[in-house]
Amino acid sequence: MRLSFRFILPLVLVLAAIAYAVVPLVDRLTLRWFVHDMDMRSNLIASAIHDSLQESLRSGSRAKTLRLFNDVLQDERLYALGFCGASGGARIATRTFPVEIGCEDLGRFADSERKLLQSGKGPLHVAVAGIEDNGALLGSLILVHDMSFVQRRSEETKRYVFYFFIGLGAVVSLITVVIAELSWRGWVRGVRALMRGEWLFRPAAEEPPLPMPELHPIAGDLRTLIRDMEAEYRARDESQVTWSPDALRAILRNDLRGEDILVVSNREPYLHVRRDGRLEVSRPASGLVTALEPVMRACSGTWIAHGSGAADREAVDAGDRVAVPPAKPAYNLRRVWLTPEEEAGYYFGFSNEGLWPLCHIAHVRPTFRSGDRKQYIEANRKFAQAVVEEARTPDPIVLVQDYHFALLPRMIRNRLPEATVITFWHIPWPNPEAFAICPWSGELLDGLLGSSILGFHTRFHCNNFLDTVDRLLEARVDRETFEVTYGGKSTAVKRYPISIEWPPPEDLTRKPVEECRADVRGRNHLPPDHFVGIGVDRLDYTKGIVERFLAIQRLLEMQPQWVGKFSFIQIAAPSRSAIEEYREFEARVRELAGKINARFANGDPPPILLKVEHHEPPDVYEHFRAADVCCVSSLHDGMNLVAKEFVASRDDERGVLILSRFTGASRELPEALIVNPYDIDQCAAALHVALTMPATEQRDRMRIMRGLIREFNVYRWAGRMLLDAAGMRKRGKLQDERGAG
Ligand code: F6P
Repeated sequence: MRLSFRFILPLVLVLAAIAYAVVPLVDRLTLRWFVHDMDMRSNLIASAIHDSLQESLRSGSRAKTLRLFNDVLQDERLYALGFCGASGGARIATRTFPVEIGCEDLGRFADSERKLLQSGKGPLHVAVAGIEDNGALLGSLILVHDMSFVQRRSEETKRYVFYFFIGLGAVVSLITVVIAELSWRGWVRGVRALMRGEWLFRPAAEEPPLPMPELHPIAGDLRTLIRDMEAEYRARDESQVTWSPDALRAILRNDLRGEDILVVSNREPYLHVRRDGRLEVSRPASGLVTALEPVMRACSGTWIAHGSGAADREAVDAGDRVAVPPAKPAYNLRRVWLTPEEEAGYYFGFSNEGLWPLCHIAHVRPTFRSGDRKQYIEANRKFAQAVVEEARTPDPIVLVQDYHFALLPRMIRNRLPEATVITFWHIPWPNPEAFAICPWSGELLDGLLGSSILGFHTRFHCNNFLDTVDRLLEARVDRETFEVTYGGKSTAVKRYPISIEWPPPEDLTRKPVEECRADVRGRNHLPPDHFVGIGVDRLDYTKGIVERFLAIQRLLEMQPQWVGKFSFIQIAAPSRSAIEEYREFEARVRELAGKINARFANGDPPPILLKVEHHEPPDVYEHFRAADVCCVSSLHDGMNLVAKEFVASRDDERGVLILSRFTGASRELPEALIVNPYDIDQCAAALHVALTMPATEQRDRMRIMRGLIREFNVYRWAGRMLLDAAGMRKRGKLQDERGAG
């Protein structure tokens, strides 16, 4: 009621003010009309009696004139009549004629504004008409009307206007009160629903429409507030957590109720090979494996991957599974077998001749063949089948890895609708124009949008993905929440910068730095005080190995004091050599290294020591620890974990990292010497700065970088994804319960 009063009071006040202003206006208007009426009436009477009056005046009989006046006075409105002669003389007037009107100042009544006279009898209207005889003015006829009726009518009008406004006020108030009450009830209902969390926790597109559209902005604001608070709490929680295998296990136990994790990647973490008749295990050169292996060791579960090792089939059980790591099994590796045709079409063709150059700006033209696409679909189907076989519940958590499996999330979603599918895209995502080059771009996006969460290393790649969906699909893209709703289902697009295990495995850093330095120099016939640079990459055209060698050449040209004093060891793991582009690239790298060595060696240690062979992690770490500078000059790279591994390996807080600005890692490690690998002079200068950097500066930079990797290690990367998945699952359950309730 108090609410209604709040609406009505101002309304009543406004109406009263209007009435107050309107009444005098109406009063003035009606008065003017009446005066006008009286003027016309007076003219009419004057014309009607003109001739009779003329005649009686001509006769000179005052009594006759008075009689005429008294006859005319029968009209009840006409109050008095009088005549003033033009040549003076006594006035002839009825008895009622007001004393206030004298013959000498009749002129004033000619003014229409002054025709009203306030006499002792009340308000009177005075009109004066000339009476002529043959063109000669005989005198003036004065017609006096009683105007008291005007006053009465004005009072009445005021009363009606007042009643009108009272009535209007009552009707408007009633309507206002009813509408206000109804809206208020709707608001209260809507706000209560919001307070209960309806329309807040599920993506807006999945909620039934909010009954009160007026509440949309409030719901939006609340959603943002909740998200901000969640992020803040999470950041606070995360920074308090020591991100370790135990922390991951705790998430699985507490937040995911002991759910098993299924990981799917093309590359397997362990390959079996036969060497000298013995079955041996090898670790592939892969950033993806570097990151995920410690996560799987912590989480257990099953890793589904392509069995690509020559002796892989010998090591598996009847279900194609093998427990790994071989020395201390912690999880299952389920191998999927591909035919040579499948591998050629899906892995070498579609993935690495099509998608890889499509997503990397390295100026290599992508090649898409329909035959490769067929194999890509087939291979994705095989992996989907393996996921279904390995899932122990209808709602497993599946972590799909990388560009080899763009179609897999949708296939899993179709077969296990309750699954939580987290897809992580390890390489950059290009802009929409570039992605549209792929003839099957829509199909790939549809496949990826089968994911519950889709992760990228950087915000930039998330934005590129949203732009691509916006441009190429009929989907709803929410740039505020980073959600895509497609086919009635939502996919959260999130940034999860990948990282490495921290602390690094003890066996990789056990050998003292001094020993590493001495051994690496010794094995390479370099003097003990020789400056050494290191590069560790797959032999891939995106890694900027040619540009790196050109920078070394430039350094030796610009700063010849380094000739014979500095060598760069390039570990280049052979990669995808079935692809011609990669074979040609290897030839170019070898040729350039040979040319530079021929130019600068002259009996000195060669400036470039190119080692095109696979190195196991302990070898790689030994080189990292032996080096004075590490160079990561990728032309384009999703993250690049070599940069982080180099930093992790340097517990002596020495060594300098040169890092391409086109890697995801450069966003997190600004204390590295950041370079544009296309700018050869700049890279050469960076090499010189690195080689001459004082120990204290090396230590300061290294400390900051190590602190960052310690805090943002791979357990945090995986933990954040799992926590997001857990949150999603909880919200889904809540929603289902509410739907059932
Ligand atoms: O960045 C993409 C990626 O899958 C990485 O995770 C990994 O370092 C590399 O490519 C491995 O490539 P491949 O499995 O083809 O040897």
